[in-house]
Amino acid sequence: MSTRETWTTRAGFIFAAVGSAVGLGNIWSFPFQTASNGGAAFLVVYLLAVFLIGFPTMLAEFVIGRRSEQNAISAFERLGFSNWTFTGALGVFAAFVTLAFYSVVGGWVLRYIVGSLTGAYFGDTAGYFAAISAGPGAIVTHAAFMAITIGIVAFGVADGIERATKFMIPAIIVLLIGLAGWGATLSGAGAGYSYYLSPDVDVILSNFGSIVPSAMGQAFFTLSLGFGVMIAYASYLGSDDSLPGDSAIIVVLNTVVALLAGFAVFPVLFSTLEDPTTTSGGMGTAFTALAGAFGQLPAGQVLGFVFFVVLLFAALSSSISLLEAPTSYVVDTYDYDRWKIAVGVGVVTFVVGVPSTFGITWLAFYNDLVFNVLLPVAVFLIAVFVGWVADAEAFDELGRGSVVGDVPGTAPLTTIWLWWVRVVVPIVVLYTLYLGVTSLYT
Ligand code: PHE
Ligand code: NA
Repeated sequence: MSTRETWTTRAGFIFAAVGSAVGLGNIWSFPFQTASNGGAAFLVVYLLAVFLIGFPTMLAEFVIGRRSEQNAISAFERLGFSNWTFTGALGVFAAFVTLAFYSVVGGWVLRYIVGSLTGAYFGDTAGYFAAISAGPGAIVTHAAFMAITIGIVAFGVADGIERATKFMIPAIIVLLIGLAGWGATLSGAGAGYSYYLSPDVDVILSNFGSIVPSAMGQAFFTLSLGFGVMIAYASYLGSDDSLPGDSAIIVVLNTVVALLAGFAVFPVLFSTLEDPTTTSGGMGTAFTALAGAFGQLPAGQVLGFVFFVVLLFAALSSSISLLEAPTSYVVDTYDYDRWKIAVGVGVVTFVVGVPSTFGITWLAFYNDLVFNVLLPVAVFLIAVFVGWVADAEAFDELGRGSVVGDVPGTAPLTTIWLWWVRVVVPIVVLYTLYLGVTSLYT
């Protein structure tokens, strides 16, 4: 078998991982979940989930990936625990299911980019969404989005993924800052900011059972945790990178993009909707509410175009990582050409995604399965594995390449992290899983 690929630079890895993290989750779901879950109340719980649970979990995935230098499935075997490979397989399955519906939504985005230029959705926003989100047209755009994703992954880690994300991430940040600045000039900006940023403790307490699982699922999804993606990405990493340093950058940048998306979206919602606090937070809201708003605002066509281009970049830099998770498994295991594997996996995923073009119920089914079940279970298993099963010397990974040189896996911060991953993460995640499953199936 040929030599395994690696990122060309540390920045290349960071861009790719930020690209995976920053996605539809930040721009499409985050602002709307926040809007429908009490605004700032949701934001507070979400930020706690990201920093207290997501960040240490990302480190756990990075340790597994770099230590094993393998995809998420083979990683457990390489570390000497072949009976844990099912954990990686569960994550890769989650990536596969996610890509299947993600690509359908990516297809809508392609359609809205064109629709912004022609003004097609400005008259009848709801009708336009209904027409393009289901049926044969949706299958075509789903195929187009998947084809672009396959194209990038086929080029490989450095030439495909690294190059594409190095361009897309800065573009996303610059354009979102522009959109947020424009949002500040709208009449509803003040009301939007205050709903977004001033938390009401009563709202948190009285909606605890629904806010916590949504915030936690959103945190895992947005950081690409539980999918085996971060394991695979870290496996292409050089040994002198600082894992805690890299994860901190990735978590912060991902949060910045989500917050910026909120700064762009809330003024728009509060300027154009009767009661933005009752937006359903459902799958179509980002499209119908925003598209409707662009139609009412000056220069709406240009803004709509910019917004949906941002969304496309975000979606693509994530979809390539979703395709990379299963692709890297096949590349590591069998001796076929990468591009053939990328095409094969992509086509199968495309087929699995087709039911999501039959209507929003299917898409929501895939989405809920991932958010409420697959991700929490996968994250729980990863925390238990790293905390209780993996050999202690694996934790040397955390101390490599730190600013003060390599530090041993027994350093105080590593020990704190380890106990956090052992005890706090599994308990919180189990509790979330319980809340999520009861809210889904009762
Ligand atoms: N993090 C991405 C988002 O927020 C979703 C994703 C999950 C992408 C897992 C890749 C892997 O949209
Ligand atoms: Na994200």
